[in-house]
Order: sequence, then C-alpha cells, then structure tokens
Amino acid sequence: MICQRKEVIGNATLYLGDCREVLPPLDRAAAIVSDPPYGIGFAMSGGGKGSHNVRNLKPVHGDDEAFDPTEWLEFSDVILWGGNHFAQRLPHGRWLAWDKLAGLAAFDSFSDVEFAWRKGRGKDRIFSHMWKGICKASEKTGGKERWHPTQKPIALMDWCLSLVDAPIIVDPFMGVGTTGISAVKAMRSFVGCEIDPDYFDIACRRIEDAQRQGNLFGGGGSMTGGSQQLRLFRRAIRDGEPIDAAAANAGIEIGEARLIVADDLRSPPPPEAFMLIGITETLAALCSPWGRAA
Ligand SMILES: C[S@@+](CC[C@H](N)C(=O)[O-])C[C@H]1O[C@@H](n2cnc3c(N)ncnc32)[C@H](O)[C@@H]1O
Repeated sequence: MICQRKEVIGNATLYLGDCREVLPPLDRAAAIVSDPPYGIGFAMSGGGKGSHNVRNLKPVHGDDEAFDPTEWLEFSDVILWGGNHFAQRLPHGRWLAWDKLAGLAAFDSFSDVEFAWRKGRGKDRIFSHMWKGICKASEKTGGKERWHPTQKPIALMDWCLSLVDAPIIVDPFMGVGTTGISAVKAMRSFVGCEIDPDYFDIACRRIEDAQRQGNLFGGGGSMTGGSQQLRLFRRAIRDGEPIDAAAANAGIEIGEARLIVADDLRSPPPPEAFMLIGITETLAALCSPWGRAA
C-alpha cells in the first residue's frame, strides 16, 4: 500500500495508510506511544448491556489477527496500550494501569481497568480517570466527541506523555488522533499513522483544533501546567535551583519566570504540573507547595 495522504499540521505529520508500509524511517530516539489493534476481534462487542454508544460502530482494522509488536520495540521508549492481550510477544517490562472506575462501583460488562506495557525497568503505575459510559471525568459531551470504539481519553494520553522524555512521539495506530492531541499540548513533535480514512480525517481535524487552541493548553508559557517548558521550570525551582538558572534552562524569560513563581505561591500548581517528577513527590509537593517531603 502506498501512502494515500500525508498531512503536516504544525509539528505533527500524519500519514494515511498501513504504518508498516507508509511510515518513513524513524529516529529511534523517538517514543512509541500507541494503542494498537489488540487482536481480540473488537467487532464482537457491539450491542448488549454496557455496549459502546458509538454510532456506525465498525470493526477495528487489524483486530482480527494477533498483534505483533516486534518492529516497535527498538525505540527509546515504548508504551503500548492493550499489551496484556499480546504479553507473550513482549519482553520483560513494566505496566501502566488505567483505573476507569476511579472509585465507582463496577456496573457494566466492560473491563474496569486497561493495561499498557512500557519498555524498560521501573515501577508499575496507575492512572485513575473515570470513563464508563456517560460517567466521565473529562470530555463530557454526551458522546458527541466520541468517534472511535476504542478512543482513549486525552487525559490518559497526557499522563502517558508526562512519563516519557522523548521530543518526538510516534503513534503508528493513531485512530482519531488522541495521542497527537496530547503531543501538541506537551509541545512535542508528533508522527501519526492511521489506515482508516474516516478516522484519519477526524484525527487531522482534532489535531488541528488542538494546535489552534495551543495557548489555552499552556503554549506560550501560560500557567495551566500543560507545557513542557513550564513543567521543567517548576521542577527545577522545586529542586532548589535559582530562578534565573531554572528560567534559562527551561527557555523562559526571567520576567515571566518571576510571575509564574509569584502566581504559584499564591495558588499552588495543579498536579499535572508535577507529573514529570513522579507520584510520591507530587503528593509531597501538593502537601507543601514548593517544599520537599518533610
Ligand atoms: C485501538 S485503535 C486506536 C484508537 C486511538 N487510541 C484513539 O484514541 O482514537 C487502533 C487503530 O489502528 C488502526 N490500524 C490498524 N492497523 C493499522 C495499520 N496497519 N496501520 C495504521 N493504522 C492501523 C485502526 O484502524 C484503529 O483505528
């Protein structure tokens, strides 16, 4: 299959076609953050109690055959959602769990948790974010923002990107572009691929919208905690670096840096501002803004 379309939207380059054929040679320093077809025949899950409310549900391309992760394992960092479905083909790694109930009692026939495999050694991590039918912690639009049967919350992919440092994020199975939106928000370059033209079009539109809303997401140094620059700056300050060095290293003007610190002292930064540092330290930081654990 040849590449049917290539769209460049800001720092995002999107390919329509089969990723195994249309993606150009990629820098191995990039991170693969993806939600590939799991090989569990998703077409089976339409209808019945707790069924997906996606109109025009169609089978996920490639889901009728076992997923082979081999070609993606060479990259510097790799996060593959659904890894538990093809765990026998993965080397030893660590697990990320998405707790979809986030405190709710189980009530439907879908799984309450999803797992991603992550390359390398380290701790297993949990992200709690309610996402069950109409009970959603984010993107509460009565189903209008739901186009794909296995669409992930943007918040989940934001969390994934907060765990990886690579400046280029690659999602070879991007669906409707959720990873791409998070990459835009985190000011990383993004390479995405999707084989289904309908999902590809939606991905292009969503990623374009995210680019347009860049400032709302924290681009240009706003104080939402969304920009990588801002997170690097806050981490440095929290670690005791002088403000001018922290600002210079993060590429933030000193005047703006002072404003950020003053603002953060008045009202502590949101948890996502600390995600790069890790959960334990985040809790310490929240208990005592700017202080280390007592
Ligand atoms: C599990 S879905 C990803 C959904 C995505 N996480 C989202 O939020 O929209 C996997 C996607 O991979 C696409 N796909 C399957 N095989 C592919 C291939 N060989 N090349 C590119 N895309 C492929 C499917 O069409 C499907 O949209």
